[in-house]
Order: sequence, then C-alpha cells, then structure tokens
Amino acid sequence: MEKKFARTLVTTALPYANGPVHIGHLAGVYVPADIYTRYLRMKGEDVIMIGGSDEHGVPITLKARAEGVSPQDIVDRYHNIIKKSFEQLGISFDIYSRTTSKIHSKTASDFFRNLYDKGEFIEKTSMQYYDEEAGQFLADRYIVGTCPHCGYDHAYGDQCEKCGTSLSANDLIEPHSAITGSKPVKKETKHWYLPLDKWEPTLRKWILEGHKEWKPNVYGQCKSWLDLGLQPRAVSRDLDWGVPVPVEGAEGKVLYVWFDAPIGYISNTKELLPDRWEEYWKRDDTRIINFIGKDNIVFHCIVFPAMLMAEGSYQLPENVPANEFLNLEGDKISTSRNWAVWLHEYLEEFPGKQDVLRYVLTANAPETKDNDFTWRDFQARNNNELVAIFGNFVNRSIVLTHKYFEGRVPERGELTDYDRQTLEEFKDVKETLGSNIEHFRFRDALRDAMNLARIGNKYLADTEPWKLAKTDMSRVATILNMALQITANLAIAFEPFLPFSAEKLRKMINMPEADWNKLGSIDILATGSAIEKPELLFEKIEDSVIDAQMQKLERIKQENIIKNFRPEPVAQAVPIDDFGKLDIRVGKVLDCQKVPKADKLLQFKIDDGLGGRTIVSGIAKYYAPEDLIGKEVCFIANLEPRKLKGIISQGMILSAEDAGGRLVVIGPHGEVKPGCQVK
Ligand code: 2FM
Ligand code: ZN
Repeated sequence: MEKKFARTLVTTALPYANGPVHIGHLAGVYVPADIYTRYLRMKGEDVIMIGGSDEHGVPITLKARAEGVSPQDIVDRYHNIIKKSFEQLGISFDIYSRTTSKIHSKTASDFFRNLYDKGEFIEKTSMQYYDEEAGQFLADRYIVGTCPHCGYDHAYGDQCEKCGTSLSANDLIEPHSAITGSKPVKKETKHWYLPLDKWEPTLRKWILEGHKEWKPNVYGQCKSWLDLGLQPRAVSRDLDWGVPVPVEGAEGKVLYVWFDAPIGYISNTKELLPDRWEEYWKRDDTRIINFIGKDNIVFHCIVFPAMLMAEGSYQLPENVPANEFLNLEGDKISTSRNWAVWLHEYLEEFPGKQDVLRYVLTANAPETKDNDFTWRDFQARNNNELVAIFGNFVNRSIVLTHKYFEGRVPERGELTDYDRQTLEEFKDVKETLGSNIEHFRFRDALRDAMNLARIGNKYLADTEPWKLAKTDMSRVATILNMALQITANLAIAFEPFLPFSAEKLRKMINMPEADWNKLGSIDILATGSAIEKPELLFEKIEDSVIDAQMQKLERIKQENIIKNFRPEPVAQAVPIDDFGKLDIRVGKVLDCQKVPKADKLLQFKIDDGLGGRTIVSGIAKYYAPEDLIGKEVCFIANLEPRKLKGIISQGMILSAEDAGGRLVVIGPHGEVKPGCQVK
C-alpha cells in the first residue's frame, strides 16, 4: 500500500543565475513540478513549492570577469529575468528566492559548521593548480587546455565542450589559466571532504532496496554510482565567491556550490515559513519530492542525502523524478552556444501563449528518454490538438447553447444508451489522470485530459444536435447539457496543465472554482446557469511565425560557426616558382547574370584589359548579380578553359571562404587597371 502523507514539499532544481532559463529547464523540471503542485492544491492537500536561483559557482565568476562586472551584478541581472519569466509562465512557486540571501548564507554556513563540529568531514591537503599572476587557486573550470580525447584546444578542466567528456584538470594537455593565460603551477591547499564511502551502505539500502519504484533512469543511475563505489568528495573550494567556510584557517575558501545549493531548498522554506519550516523538513509524514534534470541525479540522490544523513534530523526525499534532456531541433541545448529557446524571449514573441508552450513541453516531455523540441511540432500540436480538438469542442458547445438556448445550460432529460456509453468513457478520468500525475507520468495525464475533448467532439459529431433542432428540442437540450458538462470537465482537468486557458474557460461557463472532486461527473453546471459568449481559447499559428523562429535558429548556427572558427593549418610549403605559374589578374565586372537552371552559378563578363572574357563562378548563393557589376575582382587568367552548363569559363574568380562557408569575392584595395597582374 502506498504511504499516506500529511503534507508535501516540492522542490525544483535551483537554476544557475548565469543565464536565463530555456525550454530544456522548463520541460525537465518546472512545468512538471508546477502541474504536480497545482494538482495537489486542487485536491486541497497541504503542499508548498520551493524555488530559487543558484547564485554561486565558478561559471558566474567567469562570466562576471568576462564582462568586467561583479558576480553580484551577474546574479542580480539573471535572477530578476528568471523570476519574472517563471511568474509570467504561471509556475506557481510559493517562494522563489536566491542563494545570495542572508538567510541562505547563515543556513548553509551553520549546516557546514554542524557537520564539522560533529566530525563528519575529513580534512585533506592536495596539490592544486595555482595562477601565480592572478594570485589564486584555479578551479577546474578556470583551466583551459587541449582535450586528450578529441584534441579540442579549448577544453575546460572539468569538461570538454566539444566531445562532452568529463575531465579533471590534470588530464588537460598544455593547461593554462583562463584568467591570465599563464601556465599554472601546483601548490598545496587544504579542503574538507564528505566521506561518501561512509554513507554508502545506508544509501544502498535506502535507494536500491527502499525505492525500487523510482523512475528507471534515476534508479539505474544511482545503482551505477553505488556499484562503482563512493569516494570522499570535497565540499570546499579556493574561491572568493560563495558562502565562506566557517572554520578558522579557511580564509579565501568557500563552500562548494553543490554543497550550498541544495541547502537553498531549506533556506527558502525557512524564508517562506519562518515558524513552520521544520514541519516540512523534519516530520516523517512529509513527502519531499525533488524535481530535477538528469545531470543533477547524483547530487540529489547521493550527495545531498548523505549530507542530510550526516546531519541526522532531516527527512530524505520520497522521490526524485528526474527527467532526461530536451534537445532543440536535433541538437543539444547549450547556454554557451545560445542554442535554446529562451523563456523570456518566447514570452515576448508569443504574448498570451503561455499555455501553448506548457502544453507542447508536457506532451513532448523527456520523461523516459531524451526528446526533441521542434518548431514544426510546436505548430502542429497547437493547430491540430489545442485548436482543432480542445478549442473546437468548447467553441461548438458554447455556440450551440447560444443558438438554441439563449446562453443558458439546458435541462437534461433521460439519457440514451449512447449518452451512458459516452459517460462511461470518462467517468473514471479523475482516478486515471490523478494517478498518472501522482506517478509523475505527466504526458499520459495530459493525454487523459485531451481525451475528454476527443470524447466531446465525437459525441457532438455522432449525435448531430443541429439536425435535431427542428424536430426534437428536448433531445437537443440533453445533448447540449452533456456537451457543457464535458466542457466543465475540461476546465477542471486542464487546470494543472494549462492554468490560463482553464481560467478563461471557467469564466466563459461561469464556474468560479475548479473542484477536482467533480471531475468525471455530469452534474457540474446547474440547469439554467448562464454561459458567456464564446471566446477563442487558442488560435492557429501560421507558417510565417514558425519560419521566423527557424530563421532565428539558423542565424544562431551561423554565429556559432563564426565564433568557433579556427583557421586550417597551413598547407605544405611550395617553391616560389610554383606560385609564378599562376597568372592572377585584376578585372572589372562588366556584366553578371544568373545561369539558367543552375542555382549556384553566375556568369560574368570581365574586362581583362585584353578585350574581355567570360567566367562562370559558383557564388550565386552569396550575391545578387547586379551588386557585383562595376566591381573589381581578382581572377586566375591562365586556368585551362572549362565548360560549365554549356558555357566556356575562361578562368576563375577568387573568393575567400568565410567561417560559415560563405564565399566573399576578393579584389584590390585601390584603383588598379583591368589586366594588371597580382604578384
Ligand atoms: O544544474 C543546475 O542548474 C544547478 N544549479 C542545480 C542546483 S539544484 C539544487 F541543488 F539547488
Ligand atoms: Zn574533447
């Protein structure tokens, strides 16, 4: 039997405040957590949802340094963007705070000190890279060098972003400091370690025996970590940004970001409920659920629980429903490559369409495997599901009610067998949908909700009330009563998923509350109650809107190529005489036209000072012909003539190939007469 809980504490991974949040964060963590919390609230359960920004860690200091501002400036900027965009998307945190708050500093510091006093840490000195020019130790992220696996020359000391391999700074070939570029030296430093090995047997028992119900991806990852054997982990760093290590002799050292961040869940609960926070953390009838992405599993299932076990008075999470990753148009989402759909931009570009994003990210959530977000799928789900199924059914029911019953819920007569059969199809929706949410199967739960609209559409199509209007108004009344009750069911069922549309719908049918207990019933709306004029719940998204988003991504791809451009190694040396064999000259473009039936080719008439010549060149993708007329170009004059699409080309126009593969014609930077030689 499943355990009964008196209250639920929902935590959501604290996003790093070094950039805005994107659809990957939303699909992985915040949308499912919000659905779960809204659902429990609707059921009248005691639940709180905790969020906040993770404002420590090396990447924030690197960004600050790169921009010449302070780390506090960076986190202020992004914390505000993130907080506002979550609010606008309707992520209903009870608190969204931050790890630079005073209460957090104190909570994290006290937590460390408590474990320190209890002798729960090991102190160890080790040799770490040190930048003598900057006068500071270098965290792995601060060291750049060549990846031993793929040869990429800009790999970080903790990871190669090219091939994705996790590294340690010692693996890098030719390491240098990301701060000054100098070659770092090794220097001794002391740190505090949490002996995870000590907690391994307890963790094994707790997860591998006690939580077999966890999602297979989470359970499996925990099992592999545990099977590999746990090692002590450093929980402090040599850095000047973070919560200072509260121990004498620890000047210049801060708590490791992954030590303080999960304590942020506790600090934020304290901030929300100064007098009652312990109920949510320390009573064993509290259910703690950590919503996270898969890259956070080890910290939430192993490291943080070990910290809590060492402390001794806290509850462990009941479940950690981590999602896999969401890709974007086939590529991994990446903040550094700007390959993402950013929430704050979406909200600006798609005003009033919060629910469309919530819907698509849930329907396509990476619950069991990585999934792909594509703009075409976004459009299709909006147009073919939200508009064509949900919106269409609601609209038809309300329009017909106005047409035949002056906008009042008509009285229902005797049900036919078909009516009863229809009711049979959804009377258990409360249990199925609820159970899917409680077991973190949000895609299935959403499908259950949408299925109500499918049932409604089929019901109207089969009963055809518009045909009966002349002969049997009492039957029409029953049918529309049924349709309106299904509409009311939709307003309840969609509330956790699409809160904005559900509210709009409730207003249309004058249903002040969405009462979860009524789901599955056909006695929600009272006979005679008023129905407002229909408003569209969703609108069609045109191709042009999607094309604009695709073009935006294409531009980002090009920018990345240019940013990551590294010149090819220089080719083998050649004797000067070989160069002399080429007769390169300056010419003036007299005429330029597209070659028919060849989308790459342009045909040039070139003034070469010797009566003119024709050259065909494959640069049609990059230039409009008229833009080149009158320009001076360089061409190889003694190339053997070649026939291209039936035209004899007498030479080759020289171009530089830009980083993105674009060809740019080259010419002299001063006036030069046609026919002059390039030496
Ligand atoms: O991966 C991340 O974005 C981390 N900032 C998540 C931290 S979760 C928690 F521990 F705070
Ligand atoms: Zn690599």
